[in-house]
Amino acid sequence: MKFNIITIFPEIFDSYFSESIIKRAQKRGLIKIKTHNLRDCTNDKHKSVDDKPYGGGPGMVMMVEPIFKAISALKKFEIRNPKSETNLKSKFSKSKTRVILFSPKGKKFDQAMAKRFSKLDNLIMICGRYEGVDERVAKYIADEEVSIGDYVLTGGEIPAMIVVDAVTRLIPGVIAKESLNEESFSFKKEKALANENYEYPQYTRPEVFLPAGRHGGKWSVPKVLLSGDHKKIEEWRKIS
Ligand code: ADE
Repeated sequence: MKFNIITIFPEIFDSYFSESIIKRAQKRGLIKIKTHNLRDCTNDKHKSVDDKPYGGGPGMVMMVEPIFKAISALKKFEIRNPKSETNLKSKFSKSKTRVILFSPKGKKFDQAMAKRFSKLDNLIMICGRYEGVDERVAKYIADEEVSIGDYVLTGGEIPAMIVVDAVTRLIPGVIAKESLNEESFSFKKEKALANENYEYPQYTRPEVFLPAGRHGGKWSVPKVLLSGDHKKIEEWRKIS
């Protein structure tokens, strides 16, 4: 699966994507991550990506043209397709490509969306900055607007990292199957209980931790986890 990220700060991604599971997934050819500097899609000598809002108001707005150019370069096939000449939305295309625009007013990102994205061949992400993005990007270019939560960030770069991370671990071969199975089990539980607790509590050594400076303090692992009784452990995990 390919992740294409359109941003004016491509360096932001270097550190996170060159560590741990995401690094290994790239090395093993399970995913490809490419960042594209939006400033490379500009014509003027200042490499402008934003301009003043029509109708007035504070701040700057990201322009549609550089984003159009960036997406066009990544979706060559779709643009040659006459059906999509005036509208780049992927629903006109058979390829498993999706273009998302990060925005606080988008649909909330969740595990179901991560699962849906993990079945794609190519996820193109547009990271907005400044006070906003020309609405024509949402209207004509992006297939969907995605928010990672009800708060306003300074840009879409952290949301892009979150989406790459959550989607990558669902791609077959990236992490051990058992971890995913366990998770889907707890996920069913999570749905049934309609709470936000995706995982049961986990413990590792030591069995008893004596925190320094706390007289008589004793932090113990629940006894059931030491019992070796797998049925009981399963029951306990269901209710914890
Ligand atoms: N850009 C700014 N805030 C955001 C959010 N909460 N989710 C996605 N993109 C954003």
